[in-house]
Amino acid sequence: MEHLLTEEQLDVKRAVREFAEGEIRSSVAARDESGEFPADIMRRLGELGFMGVNTPENLGGTGMDTVCYAIVIEELSRVDPAVGVIASVNNSLICYPLEKFANAEQREKWLRPLAAGKLLGAFALTEPESGSDAASLKTTAVRDGDAYVLNGTKAFITNGANAQVHLVFARTDKTVEKSKGISAFLVPAGAQGLRVGTLEKKMGIRSSDCVEVNLQDVRVPAANRLGKEGEGFKIAMLSLDSGRIGIAAQAVGLSQGALEEAVKYSKQRVQFNRPICEFQAIQFKLADMEMLTQAARLLVYAAARKKDAGGRYNHEAAMAKLFASDVVTKVTLEAVQIHGGAGYLMDYPVERMLRDAKVTEIYEGTSEIQRFIIARNVLSA
Ligand code: CAA
Repeated sequence: MEHLLTEEQLDVKRAVREFAEGEIRSSVAARDESGEFPADIMRRLGELGFMGVNTPENLGGTGMDTVCYAIVIEELSRVDPAVGVIASVNNSLICYPLEKFANAEQREKWLRPLAAGKLLGAFALTEPESGSDAASLKTTAVRDGDAYVLNGTKAFITNGANAQVHLVFARTDKTVEKSKGISAFLVPAGAQGLRVGTLEKKMGIRSSDCVEVNLQDVRVPAANRLGKEGEGFKIAMLSLDSGRIGIAAQAVGLSQGALEEAVKYSKQRVQFNRPICEFQAIQFKLADMEMLTQAARLLVYAAARKKDAGGRYNHEAAMAKLFASDVVTKVTLEAVQIHGGAGYLMDYPVERMLRDAKVTEIYEGTSEIQRFIIARNVLSA
């Protein structure tokens, strides 16, 4: 696949791989067990320019293309998809909508430090009763003079416990169609009335935090509204188009990591007087794992290129996310199978990888939602 990349993209791939091997790998298993947030790693990623990869340089980012961004998330996730998703949320769901919708003042105050990794952002869309049906959210924002007062509960918020700013979607108008009455707000984590719940106990990507965020009479200046009143749902959907490329890249990276573990183990493990990689039963599994991972990677790069070309890319992003998340679940399952009994033990990374994989089929739009988006585009073409 390297032959498809430019010199800059290859340099990024090498740099992130070196960082992930040198500064992430040694703590992955311990953080999976403890659930500890990788604060130092995220700080270093910010210094290296990987928390605002796509954000233009004049806005405090690194100014690279979306293929470079996908490569960053892929290479981080090959070693630790928990680090991958923390970076993906900040890049795609925070810096990207700010780049598109923030005014000059908001760019200086929020985007610049977020893109430089000096602040971390969280994307607060989902609620206990609105997941796939995001437009039915109930959190309200009521205008009061030069401020808005927010009330409601957000659920499953990645980065929620560690972010300094939350991009909160709230209903500002109940009289219009549900998707038209939503607005977006930049809410500092320290705002009075904002309370972060206890860490959710997750199946995988355990060192990426996930929490409920409760907003009780949280007063934010009107200057913290991102975009126009009523534009919030569109901002959320555009952010998720970008985010789905990140999650697809996360899935590809993890799939690559699991494949490499399976190859390594199959060369070491001897049964019937031969390394098991000499058996066709194992070889055929490895062949499928390689083919699927490469195919997923191509869809991710194609979606990234479509984004850079301008215009709508929700179709390509949905296909990349749907396919890559399906692939990573299959590949990590096969990686465990190749390890046999050893794969079922926490002593080998493939056990964690299988747990880490599943969420890619769920967050930033379930596989069912991606199919809905793709089918709707096909039918309306
Ligand atoms: N770009 C721009 N505008 C868009 C858009 C897009 N991709 N998708 C929809 N819109 C616009 C539509 O054009 C429409 O506007 P008009 O009425 O002016 O035409 C408006 O938004 C409403 O769109 P829909 O009718 O399609 O809305 P819907 O209620 O049917 O919902 C959906 C569509 C695709 C199901 C959407 O609700 C969805 O994506 N759901 C999944 C939510 C999700 O992904 N949540 C993830 C949470 S964040 C997360 O997971 C982060 C993490 O933890 C890592």
